[in-house]
Amino acid sequence: MSLAILSEPLPISILTQLRDKKTDSTTFRKGLVRLGRLIGYEIANTMDYKKVEIETPLNVKAEGIRIYDLENVIVVSVLRAATPLVEGLLKAFSAAKLGVIGASRREYEGKEIPNNMEIDVFYKKIPPIRKGIDNVIIADPMVATASTLLKVLPEIAIAKPKRICIASVLASDYGIKRIMKNYKQVDIFTVAVDKELNNRGYIVPGLGDAGDRAFG
Ligand code: URA
Repeated sequence: MSLAILSEPLPISILTQLRDKKTDSTTFRKGLVRLGRLIGYEIANTMDYKKVEIETPLNVKAEGIRIYDLENVIVVSVLRAATPLVEGLLKAFSAAKLGVIGASRREYEGKEIPNNMEIDVFYKKIPPIRKGIDNVIIADPMVATASTLLKVLPEIAIAKPKRICIASVLASDYGIKRIMKNYKQVDIFTVAVDKELNNRGYIVPGLGDAGDRAFG
């Protein structure tokens, strides 16, 4: 299990735009696409590769590498907020297969900060996962209580892929700990970690409801 935080200026500046309540829907959506691409490259940089030798047009040999795992990627989109993030991820993983999970959290508002949210899964279509070969990347821009991911992960983990990554924009401390406790083999990539959740299960300071903001 690892946690990678994309703390470079470019992802942080895009995240700042997403956090800003004045940012309109189109800019918000484009920001998620751009972050998807950056997170994708970050994941690709951690993938297995092998050394290769090629011949250049000058008929001279040169050493290089080939990231063979780029051909073994399944991106799983958790609808609806992940859609723009996945558009970006697919720019980094153009050969990826695509799975889709339609899930929505039931609205909740209580006195206590929730430690779990009720999730309704209404659609699921995931390509066959090859044991020990495929790298499954689950795209979920907001890991708050991680309730959605904990609904999705059992089905992925049981197929024993080579690797499971989570591509997220914002994650809470609580959500990360909850995933770590249950799935020691998962690698989380996120742009930032926020400390708090509120009594509706939203990340604070967060960026609001990512799906509503992206789709209007
Ligand atoms: N989903 C969102 O869109 N935003 C949050 O803050 C938490 C979950």
